[in-house]
Amino acid sequence: MQTTVFSSEQDIARTAGEIFCGFARRKPKAVFGFATGSTPLGAYSYMVSEYRAGRTSFSQIKTFNLDEYCGLPKDHQNSFFAFMQQNLFSQTDIVAENIHFLDGTAADVRKECERYDAKINAAGGIDVQLLGIGCNGHIGFNEPGNYFSEGSFKVKLTANTMEENSVYFDDAEMPGYALTMGIGSIFRARKIVLIALGEQKAQAINEMLRGKITPRCPASILKLHDNVSVFLDETAASLVRDIV
Ligand code: PGA
Repeated sequence: MQTTVFSSEQDIARTAGEIFCGFARRKPKAVFGFATGSTPLGAYSYMVSEYRAGRTSFSQIKTFNLDEYCGLPKDHQNSFFAFMQQNLFSQTDIVAENIHFLDGTAADVRKECERYDAKINAAGGIDVQLLGIGCNGHIGFNEPGNYFSEGSFKVKLTANTMEENSVYFDDAEMPGYALTMGIGSIFRARKIVLIALGEQKAQAINEMLRGKITPRCPASILKLHDNVSVFLDETAASLVRDIV
């Protein structure tokens, strides 16, 4: 795990965004794993600006998102699909048929999760996966638990996560369940970029970097991966300055 502390969010956005743009230039058919939430917004905005400047095309890349709420159709304003559409997909030349999402409205959840995992495998696996981290150490919606999950599955969101994400749901009730890629699927990405911004992430970062590898802190498993870049702002890094 290589951890870098940046003095500005813009530097993190540029560095993370450039990793994806660089992949797209070198390997036009690269497979990207994307995340939602406030953390990746800067990187997406950088990718959009590189596309608009004519420096990067995403026309052949494939995308897989980490998770989606159960019960929300794609076109619901609070779906993660809508978030990606608004902040990245519709503003670049990413092609609709190359965008992959778990379907939170699927009647047969197990089949839907198998379909998604098979799609990732058929694409050759994920080249580079973008991650945020929850205050409880979750990655995707892999909440703290007793074991590390393997493939995609349906998860009951913790009270903590519900509280953090409820800010996005002013007009609608937030779903209590989601479908998420499993830890195994995330771990198999050939490169992982994890970003944490803000003081509220400091404890999770401390546990991830300093604590033991345990499903109680799902992100801790990333210490076993040989190609993880962790990008922190000063406040997210505030409890680990002695080791990074
Ligand atoms: P955030 O969420 O980017 O909105 O902080 C990150 C996460 O929960 O994984």
